[in-house]
Formats: sequence, C-alpha cells, structure tokens
Amino acid sequence: KAMAATNPSTLSFKEIPHLMDQDHHVAEGYHAGVLIRWGDPVLPEAPAFDPTHLTAAAQLKQFGYNNDFLGYFPLERGSNNSSHGLLTINHEYVDRKLMWSGQDPEGIDSQTEEQINVEMAAHGHSVIEVKRDGDLWSVVPNSRYARRISTLETEIRVSGPAAGHDRLKTSADPTGTRVIGTLQNCAGGVTPWGTVLIAEENFDRYFNGATLPPAEERNYKRLGINGKPDYGWYRFHPRFDVAKEPNEPNRFGWMVEFDPYDPTSVPVKRTALGRFKHEGANVIINHDGRLAVYAGDDERFEFVYKFITKNKVDLANPAANKDLLDEGTLYVGKFAADGTLAWLPLVFGQGPLTPENDFHSQADVVIEARRAASLMGATPMDRPEDVEPNPVTASIFMALTNNTKRKAEQVDAANPRATNEHGHVLEMVPPGGKGRAAKHEADLFTWNIFVLCGNPAKPEDGARYHPATSEHGWLSCPDNVAFDPRGRLWISTDGATKFGYADGLWAADVEGEGRALTRHFYATPTGAEMCGPFLTPDGTTMFCCVQHPGDDKDSTFDAPSTRWPDFKEGMPPRPSVVFITRKGGGEIGG
Ligand code: FEO
Ligand code: CA
Ligand code: CA
Ligand code: CA
Repeated sequence: KAMAATNPSTLSFKEIPHLMDQDHHVAEGYHAGVLIRWGDPVLPEAPAFDPTHLTAAAQLKQFGYNNDFLGYFPLERGSNNSSHGLLTINHEYVDRKLMWSGQDPEGIDSQTEEQINVEMAAHGHSVIEVKRDGDLWSVVPNSRYARRISTLETEIRVSGPAAGHDRLKTSADPTGTRVIGTLQNCAGGVTPWGTVLIAEENFDRYFNGATLPPAEERNYKRLGINGKPDYGWYRFHPRFDVAKEPNEPNRFGWMVEFDPYDPTSVPVKRTALGRFKHEGANVIINHDGRLAVYAGDDERFEFVYKFITKNKVDLANPAANKDLLDEGTLYVGKFAADGTLAWLPLVFGQGPLTPENDFHSQADVVIEARRAASLMGATPMDRPEDVEPNPVTASIFMALTNNTKRKAEQVDAANPRATNEHGHVLEMVPPGGKGRAAKHEADLFTWNIFVLCGNPAKPEDGARYHPATSEHGWLSCPDNVAFDPRGRLWISTDGATKFGYADGLWAADVEGEGRALTRHFYATPTGAEMCGPFLTPDGTTMFCCVQHPGDDKDSTFDAPSTRWPDFKEGMPPRPSVVFITRKGGGEIGG
C-alpha cells in the first residue's frame, strides 16, 4: 500500500541506476540481446565481416553503420504477428575514427576512393527478416525480404510538388526526379498501409561549397552548407561539390517512403512534406479517415510541422495509398503562452508565401520550408527530434533534445529555459477527443510541457517531473519516443554522457496518477546514443538501436573506449540492434 502511494506508475519494472561502463544494462528480469551488428550479413551472398579490410562491395551486402530508426513489420502485412516479421533500420552516418584504423578524425582529404565508397555503402537502410524463439530473436538468413539501400547505388524517385522542378535538376538527372541515395537517415515512422518513412537529416555535412550559387545562397546557408564538409565524398563524387553540381543539395532533406515487403520497390522522396533537417515523421489516422503526419526539424530554433493528406487512407487496399503523401496541406506550429498551438498553413500564394518573397510555386515553398515557416511566424523550438502521436490518446509527444544557445531574452512558454542543456518533452493535444475522435486537421490545438529534463535534485537544472520520480528516473536529452500498446511513453536519449551517465531508455505513463513519472529501464554502453525504440504489436518485445558505441573523446578504432558487443581484441565497437524481452515472456514494462 505504501508502495502504491509513492509509485503510482503502471510500469512495475525495477529501475536501473544512472551508470556508464563498457556494457549495456537492462532492468532485472529482462533479457537484452544483440540481434545484428554493423558488418553482419544482410544479403545472402554477404562475406564475413573483416574490420581490417572493408570494401564497398562487401558493405553493400552487410548491415550498415550507425543504426538510428527501426520499425517492426509483422510478416503478414497488416497482421499482429509479434514473433515473426521484418525490421527496417536506418544507417544514419559513419564514425570515421571508429570505422578506420589510423584515421585522422580531421583528415577527410587523406581518404582513398575505396574508403569513401565504403562509407557511402554503409549509409542508408537495411531490411531484415527476424523471428522469435522463446525469449530470443534471431535474423532469418537468406530472406527474400532482405534489402540494403545505400547512398552509393540506390535509385530513389522524387514525387510531389518539387518533383521535376528546375531547382532539382542536375547533369546526371536532367529530369529532377531521380536521385541516387538518401543521406543521414535519422528517425522515421511506419504507415498504416505497411510502408516505412525514413528521414534525411543533416545532409549539409557532405557538401563542399565555399562559394554558393547566388540563386541558392540563402537556401543553402540556412541549412548549414558552408564549405566545411565533415566527409570527403566530394573529392570522388563531384555531385557533393556545390561548385560543380549547384542543385544537388535540393535533392536531400526530404522524407523518403518505401515498401519493405517488396525488395524491388523504388523508394520515393515525398516533397509535399517539406525540406528541412527531418528528424523523422510519424502518422495517425484522422477522425475523417485522412492521414495526419507530424515531423520535427532537428536544429536549434527550428520548427515542428504537421501535414494533413487531401485523401483518405484505404486500409482495405494498401496499394491505393501509394501516392497519398503527395497531396495535402503542410503546416508549421506556433505556440502561445496561453497554452494554445496554432497551425499555420505553408501554401503558395497565402500570406507572405508569394513572388515578393521569391516563392513562385508550392515547389519553392517546400524546398525552402524553413524560410516559409519563419515568414509565417512559427515558434523556434529547442531542437525538435522525434514527434509522435500516441495511438491511444491521439495527443502528440515531441522530444526537444536541448538548446544551449537559447538566451534568457529568447525564452518563451514552450521553450522555458535559457541554456537548455537537458531538453524537455512537450505534449500537443488536438481537439475532438481521444483515439479516432481527434481532429488533427484543426487549426488550433492545446499544448503542455510533459517533463522538463535534468536532475530534480539540482535546483539549477530547473527540472520538473512527477514528484514521485526516483533518483534513477530522471533523464537528459530526450531524442526518440515510442508508445507501447497501452499508450505509455518510452523515451530514448542522446546526450546524457556529458552529464556523466549513459544514454538509454526511460518510460512513463501519460495518463492517470503516474503521469510524467519517468522510470529508467535500459542503459547503453559508453559513448553510445540510444535510438529506436519500437515495440511489437503485442508489446512483448522492444527493439532498440545502440548507435555509435565507443564514441568518446580520444576513443579510436585502435584504442576504443569499449569493444561492445564483441569484446574481442582487434574488433572495434559495432553499432547494433538490440532486442529486449521479459524472461519467461510477458509485457515489456509490466
Ligand atoms: Fe539524428 Fe536529430 O538526430
Ligand atoms: Ca535523433
Ligand atoms: Ca519514434
Ligand atoms: Ca540527437
């Protein structure tokens, strides 16, 4: 009885403490296993992983580097099969210092063409088939669903208002409709018709361009293209040199959709959803059958967006939705101190989105969505990462990871702390009611702050949680969010290590007595970021991604801070997908 008074959460697992060491840790009574690692086979003829002899040919058949988003798809499209399905996983970027022996972390000019091609092959996405046996999961070898999408080879179609526009045309693609590859695939989402949405986030990091084309200078500068790329790809692939291919950057920064059940399906860049540093996109069916898509632009002082499709989702006929995301209305959020949230339409010809401001069509509006949103008066946020609707309550949770650059005079109700080191989670509530009653198309929502992250024992953090949150239950730098079948919130973090503890997973009720009582469930090995997470439809398995393990200061391929998960001399740390089950079965979280 006393326990119930102090811990009103429906989440009954025993919390783990804040800690950081070379291994990962999960709450007592759960099993956390490694499912697939960088370099493991994806395609049938993949060679064995040899970290001292990486080749592009091998990497194109192996699991890519740095897994961020993952989605689980039941083996039969639309079913609830929670023991056999497909996992679709983003490979966001590569960590050169941990990937290559003897690599100078600053030395992008010393890499060979083969090394560059390995890096391009390691970016993108993987589809694998996975199966449960007891408490364990494994990859099904030689699956007919297995697929690798890469920046080196995969052809991607462009659709929506910017498709074929002059600003997307290049010498290799005079149609402006076919792009090789996708970049910085960070978070993402799944659609009710069984496709996956993958985000293109920090694509500026690949483009060389000290001198920008005058027509695109304002556009590219807003996205961070500054002649100081983090990768040397442009030396062998001139499309990444803006001086040689001035429109190539306009071909990245989109949401990409593809069908994981068909390994020959051509992925599509859905330009109607706008171009910015897409963290991800998550969807929910509106009361009227249309689809609502929510998306964050992960940069300091950037915005949150929503998109409402013109047409309805057809659940009976998955193929009927193949162009659903090409038509609809894009909106950007404006948060008021009175707790209301106005959605401002980004529509060519409306308000300031006219030729006087260099918008000549909806293509211009989506290509420069950030500038359009600024002109409309959107609220600059503390780095919107994952933005995801709760399937039970229909309210939308947004992770605002941090913003150390917010000054005291820039504080507002929705971003209430200057020098916001720990971030916060914000809830947006549509009118109309819960579940399918919610009116996502409404121009006016309400909003509230769910938690202000940081250590509640340190007054200077200005943290705020449920008062019964334990000494283990507080967190920093929320990044991805997910919901279990009961609608409880799971949060993964990216940035705790600078406060001396490992990133990981926390969970909280969103309703009732335990609302906002966050509890600590899993910790990554040192240097890692926690990504995913994603639960099977029955809530008995949680998949999550350990991204960039060992990415600590002075940690290198030759002397890494951890060799997780292999712990073998000579083997570098390897980004990996982890499955978590309850020993003996049962619901994750209790
Ligand atoms: Fe790739 Fe915004 O994290
Ligand atoms: Ca992220
Ligand atoms: Ca998510
Ligand atoms: Ca992040």
